[in-house]
Amino acid sequence: MRRKLVVGNWKMHGSQELVHSLLTGLQAQATQGDFADTAVCPPAVFLAQAATLLTDGRIALGAQNVSQHEQGAYTGEVSAPMLAELGCRYVIIGHSERRALFAETDALIAEKFIAAQAAGLTPILCLGESLQQRESGQALAFVAEQLTAIIDKVGIAAFDKAVLAYEPIWAIGTGVTASPEQAQAVHQHLRAVLAQYSEPAAVALQILYGGSANAANAALLFAQPDIDGALVGGASLKVDDFSVICRAAQSSN
Ligand code: PGA
Repeated sequence: MRRKLVVGNWKMHGSQELVHSLLTGLQAQATQGDFADTAVCPPAVFLAQAATLLTDGRIALGAQNVSQHEQGAYTGEVSAPMLAELGCRYVIIGHSERRALFAETDALIAEKFIAAQAAGLTPILCLGESLQQRESGQALAFVAEQLTAIIDKVGIAAFDKAVLAYEPIWAIGTGVTASPEQAQAVHQHLRAVLAQYSEPAAVALQILYGGSANAANAALLFAQPDIDGALVGGASLKVDDFSVICRAAQSSN
């Protein structure tokens, strides 16, 4: 049975003070033992500080990006072994902001996926359609294409240690959430695509929903059979809201 996972994507927000207050606050909430599996992904410069605060193992650490290279003359980049050494367990790969603003291609995302796993990290592979694709009825076909582009490069076996996140671009940071039914339809489709490669992989893979997930809509999303948690942006910067989401996920475990 798939367990629910809630991941906070802080994006380029925060300060050392915020890292301290958010993580001490979240840890205090998590000690009550009713959180689902939870991870936070602060900006890279705060990962070391976050690791010193997340000592009891209830909340895992993740990064928002990783280089496809292991080491070398790549000014400004951070490698997967570096993230692993800092205590990261997850890394977000292929977020639509990186695809759109930093021109990341499927080929690059696949390389990052492989580099992450080689260092023992679990990639959280993001995909999702634009509003125009949804309105023209191409959402399912497009996300299937995004997924198969990666499977064809990394192999279905690599999905044993990965997480998928469906994040419709039109729902990210907009306050417009996909309805539970809309999200479920896409998650179900992604699982069917996976099943064409491997039925056990399709059954086992956690597929998170992302895009204006919040304290008010989380429980309804998690009630859907193929939604295995959430990748949370804005609401992950508020202790109370994020805690509600982590509890809602645990209640539906
Ligand atoms: P949002 O962001 O929850 O603020 O919409 C989600 C994401 O981009 O991962």
